Parts: sequence; C-alpha cells; structure tokens
Amino acid sequence: MLIPEIEAFLQCQTPQSWIDCALDHPEELLLDHANCEKKAAGTALTLMFRYPEREELLQHLSRLAREELRHFEQVTAIMKKRGMRYRQITASSYAQRLHKHAAKQEPEKLIDSLIILAFIEARSCERFYRLAPFLDEELGRFYTSLLKSESRHFEGYLRMAQLYAKQPIDQRVAFFAEVEREAILTEDEVFRFHSGVPKQATETAQA
Ligand SMILES: [Fe+2]
Ligand SMILES: [Fe+2]
Repeated sequence: MLIPEIEAFLQCQTPQSWIDCALDHPEELLLDHANCEKKAAGTALTLMFRYPEREELLQHLSRLAREELRHFEQVTAIMKKRGMRYRQITASSYAQRLHKHAAKQEPEKLIDSLIILAFIEARSCERFYRLAPFLDEELGRFYTSLLKSESRHFEGYLRMAQLYAKQPIDQRVAFFAEVEREAILTEDEVFRFHSGVPKQATETAQA
C-alpha cells in the first residue's frame, strides 16, 4: 500500500502513459532503475563527505547508502537472470530539474538537498506502487518490497531536513512539490525511471 503521507506529499500521480511506456521498455526500466539505486548510494556518500560534522545525518546516510547498494545488487541480479547486461545509460533530466532550484548558501543548501531527495524517494516509491500490479510475479514482489524501503528513505530525508532547518520547512516543501509535479507532467524525449510524460504519448494524444 502506498502510504498516505506520500500520497499527500506528491502533487500528482504518475500518468498512465508513463506506466504503459515502462511496460513497453522492460530493459530500459531495469537498467535505469539499477542506475538510480547506484546514484542514490553515491548521493548519500557525497553528502557524508560534504557534511562530516552532522553526526545524525552521517549515521543515517551511511545506513542508507548500504541499503541502496543492496538494491543495486538485487536489480542487477534480476537483469542477469533475464539475460540483460548492465551498462551505463544517460540520466533523465528529472533530478537536475529539481537540484537546479537548490539554494547555493549553507545551511539552506543542505535543507533543500534533503527536501529534493525526499521527493525523489517519494516518487520512486509511488512508481514502484503503480507499476507492481502490471509486472510479472518476481518483479512485482521485488517492487513491492522496495516500496517499503523507499518510503522509509522518504521519511528519513524529510526528518533530517526538519532536524537541521532553523525554521519550518513547509514553504520550501510546497515549492519543490510544484517543481516536481511539473517535471513529472512535462514531456520527455527519453524514457527513464523518473522521466516525465513519454513523447510518443503526447504525439498519439494530439494525432
Ligand atoms: Fe533504493
Ligand atoms: Fe532509496
């Protein structure tokens, strides 16, 4: 079940056209999913190096990085079983669209980064939830299990943002919610795990 906190946090549902596109591109889905897990671990490590004096954050990120790497191993194992080869593919512009609005000065930069990461985790969680019913048994079970960890990651990032913010974060959360909604509803040339509305879908809709 998608937790109500995530349902309320995200300002739009993943469009059905993205789900359809994901089902048509099983290899790209798994490939980019694997990349996202690797990237999530990398981001956690980057923050550990950037904020070595934030003790609680450090412990939190260390556990999180390990969990993301475990997810990476799980996705790539499924890929291997299915005869798919892991390779690097270009990232979608989703994360970039969010990160470009992050404050440049500390401590706001840290708070914004944590809020943005909470959105990325929440969207992953929502996508696992929406995809799961359409997938084969093995993948459906795997995505349902990931949904639980990603919802914990969402809560963790949000909790860290609240912990280190000097003032309430509601306004910043509302701002990034809007940016995130736009990213999800914007047309995207390439299909990726966090991409927007697939280009073909808008073309078909217009035809
Ligand atoms: Fe993960
Ligand atoms: Fe995660």
